[in-house]
Amino acid sequence: MGILNKHAILEKNVTLLAVFAFLVVTIGGLVQIVPLFYLENTIEDVEGIRPYTPLEMAGREVYLREGCYVCHSQMIRPMRDEVERYGHYSLAAESQYEHPFQWGSKRTGPDLARVGGRYSDEWHVDHLIDPQSVVPVSVMPQYDYLSHRMLDDGAGLISGQISATMIGDIMATNALVGVPYNDEMLENAQVDFLAQADPDSDYDGLMERYGEDVNVRNFDGAPGVSEMDALVAYLQVLGTMVDFSTFTPDASR
Ligand code: HEC
Repeated sequence: MGILNKHAILEKNVTLLAVFAFLVVTIGGLVQIVPLFYLENTIEDVEGIRPYTPLEMAGREVYLREGCYVCHSQMIRPMRDEVERYGHYSLAAESQYEHPFQWGSKRTGPDLARVGGRYSDEWHVDHLIDPQSVVPVSVMPQYDYLSHRMLDDGAGLISGQISATMIGDIMATNALVGVPYNDEMLENAQVDFLAQADPDSDYDGLMERYGEDVNVRNFDGAPGVSEMDALVAYLQVLGTMVDFSTFTPDASR
């Protein structure tokens, strides 16, 4: 009986087969996973990537709560059709501070990984209030109530609503799992949160902490900071942190 016939022993003994199958899967798994713990860097550091500002983070919370990820992905695959439609393929570094990441798994609507800056704030507000008013065939639901849910007065908390006072806690939780929010950012969470939605405020501190490129605007054009402001601030930063006119992938990896 040559070596090739010995598999009959395994095939006729279900326990032995299970043991060997387990061994093979274990070895295969270890070979794939263990090196990742010893590589100095599994994610290439890319210039421009920063943690979300408090307002953008609040917008991200709205995005999660409303389940936008059910219909939208945030992951441009390195294939020609996707790159031509959505822009540069997504980099690992762009999801570096995402807990949990928002890659999604279904595209009922378009990918949003690089939607930042593609439309005006007004377009987003009109579209979120009534998607069919801008895209008549759209199946996207209406999110008009986001305009009326204020984040800055701390009053009348509806269940599931994100308040300005909560944003510091959300950031601290993210810091706990590795997002580089420093003490100064956490202490100024609420100040920075309000400053970003008010172009008349003193937002120098915000820019010092998060960079000169931070969008400071009254995103929904209405007084006060609403969930709409936060969500649009979030959408407008998506995919805009890396400057792809100067970015070159590190070929040594
Ligand atoms: C039921 C599925 C569905 C859900 C849920 C949904 N969308 Fe959409 N979305 C769509 C479809 C379909 C389109 C394309 C038609 C249109 O522009 O309305 C779209 C388009 C968009 C666009 C324009 C993208 C582009 O590049 O043209 C944005 C921005 C967007 N959605 C944001 C959101 C946000 C934010 C949420 C959550 C508050 C959300 N969507 C929830 C289906 C959905």
